[in-house]
Amino acid sequence: MDAQYNRNFRRPLILAHRGASQQAPENTMTAFRLAAKMGADGIELDVQLCKDGEAVVIHNFTVDETTSGSGRVKDFTLAEIQSLDAGSWYGPEFAGERIPTLAQVLHELGPRLMLNIELKAPTLRSDGLEAEAVRLVEDANMVHRVTISSFNLATLWRIHRLNRHLSTGLLYAPDQPRHLRDRWLQPLVRPNALHPRWDMIDKQAIAAAHRQGLAVNPWTCNEPEAMLRLISWGVDAIITDHPDLLYNLLHITESGEKRDKH
Ligand code: G3P
Ligand code: MG
Repeated sequence: MDAQYNRNFRRPLILAHRGASQQAPENTMTAFRLAAKMGADGIELDVQLCKDGEAVVIHNFTVDETTSGSGRVKDFTLAEIQSLDAGSWYGPEFAGERIPTLAQVLHELGPRLMLNIELKAPTLRSDGLEAEAVRLVEDANMVHRVTISSFNLATLWRIHRLNRHLSTGLLYAPDQPRHLRDRWLQPLVRPNALHPRWDMIDKQAIAAAHRQGLAVNPWTCNEPEAMLRLISWGVDAIITDHPDLLYNLLHITESGEKRDKH
């Protein structure tokens, strides 16, 4: 999913943020399958390790907000965390939804979707998340269809050391400390792509990144006007909670050229 990969496309890739997370509970298999149905090229998903070292798909460091349980992800075994209901908080029709493992997502959705795996690593010290993610991606034969992204520079540095063929995306946001949001340390991790918050870039910045061989994949853009602007500036992917909306916009901007949904 790096700049080179996207040269095969004449439009930005549609990456569904946490799956089709406006219409299904985020980071669940239902949200991911729905994104594929809506015409997404890929999904963004958040990954961290639980107590027994399994890579699980959840955004927050606690389960409180998106499941029936309470407590820190890293204090649950896989069996315990998968016994929680990860759908009812969103709507009764999603009752019984489970927190997926990264392995499950890679095996079921890897063949049809590109994956932007965001590693949620809160400290510079590793808990083993990078090695586990790389092992799973390699086992699933997905090295060339995955981008590993993170706000954590040490995480991206470790990914490069583990497998230099894996594409990496450097995430940054306006509320980070200056040295992170201005990417002063970027040369240390040599990412393949920049993943800025969508309102941190303009046409010039995108062109400059492209001249350096970097893809630009902004997140999380949900407004049609902003999407159209990013499309006209030539971004490589747009990470959105509304893959269906972006799909329709791309149809219009490509004068109705038909793309098959998955
Ligand atoms: O990967 C883009 C975006 O997901 C980063 O922020 O908090 O939604 O994981 P967050
Ligand atoms: Mg994320």
